[in-house]
Amino acid sequence: MRNQRLTHDHLETPYFLIDEQELQSNLNQLEEALQKHWGNSLIGYSFKTNGLPWLLNYFKERGIYAEVVSDDEYELAKKLGYKKEKIIYNGVAKSKETFIEAVKNGCIVNVDSQRELDWLRELDRSSGEIFEVGIRVNFDLERACPNETVMGAEGGRFGFCYENGDLKKAIDTVNELKTISLTGLHLHCSTKTRSLNIYRAISKMACEITQKYSLKLKYVDVGGGFFGGLKDKPQFDEYIEVISSELSKVFNNEDTVLIVEPGTSIVSSPFSFVTSVVDVKQTSANHFATTDGSHININPLKNKGIKFFRVQYKISEDRKLIDKQVISGFTCMEDDRIMVLEDAPQVLVGDQIIYEKVGAYSMSLSPLFIKFFPAVYVEKDGVMMEAREKWTADHYL
Ligand SMILES: Cc1ncc(COP(=O)(O)O)c(C=O)c1O
Repeated sequence: MRNQRLTHDHLETPYFLIDEQELQSNLNQLEEALQKHWGNSLIGYSFKTNGLPWLLNYFKERGIYAEVVSDDEYELAKKLGYKKEKIIYNGVAKSKETFIEAVKNGCIVNVDSQRELDWLRELDRSSGEIFEVGIRVNFDLERACPNETVMGAEGGRFGFCYENGDLKKAIDTVNELKTISLTGLHLHCSTKTRSLNIYRAISKMACEITQKYSLKLKYVDVGGGFFGGLKDKPQFDEYIEVISSELSKVFNNEDTVLIVEPGTSIVSSPFSFVTSVVDVKQTSANHFATTDGSHININPLKNKGIKFFRVQYKISEDRKLIDKQVISGFTCMEDDRIMVLEDAPQVLVGDQIIYEKVGAYSMSLSPLFIKFFPAVYVEKDGVMMEAREKWTADHYL
């Protein structure tokens, strides 16, 4: 990171800006909630949510675990210097080699599929040491929380299904292995609502499975998917209170670690994306403002509405009020229309449009399309530093 003093006025748009105080505050709130309600807990940051190297180092320095879901992310965590016992290895994209290495190295590994059970069987035949693994649970959360899950009646596709008996079979398989011990359950679920009810249902399920199959667990991993940095949404304190009050019916916090895997809730709100208007034009159908940002920077899947933004009118001029201005991006895709400004003063070339709370699944899903990655700056106590320089053809090549 370049350690030079930068000011907003000198920065070339477009760029991402990280409010470090907000980032730290989100993390502090989660840590405080965990300490208050459960105590024996750990946080794994979900690399996929935003894998900016500056961010991954930031979390490492604060003792946060790496939550990774592919062999590449696993190698990245190692390369960044995450200690092996501070890696949580989830997902369906593990390679055999990294899976076995992670199990042997004492990473927290949550088994997701049949092939991973087969790899464990092979490991069992070749090893005398005892290794520990967790299992990802697939259960019908939609039934407990109607209309709240992402896939609805289609159901989730990760982990072993509880209702059809596959989870029991997977548990039996691990229990049959002499050198593998089942010590954890992983229950992350993706939801539309991120409601407290979801975490109540997840925690109840962890209790039900543990009792039904007489498990002795060292950890329960409830995954991520929380809200964070939003005043009108559930707070970390409420989430962890709900989780802890359910888990404490079956688990003892001295014996069982509560694992959470936040992504969005920690990194969404501290990120803004600063763009400039580079052209305005009227057509027979619309009034357009073209900017140097794009939906691919902040909403690459076009699956979110733009809720948080501000317009900085740079030049003090009398401006017409315009009922509809289509704020558009730099790409040559017709549908690169970021949002519509309604009943607002006309934006002019040089004005800035700043999108807020855009740190989650924006940079990590952004393609290198037409322009290379923009710069990222970090602001703390009024001082700005460069966390990633703007990519050029050299970086690309
Ligand atoms: C296993 C797992 N953990 C954690 C997360 C992070 O979720 P979020 O960014 O919504 O907090 C995800 C996201 O899909 C996930 O699949």
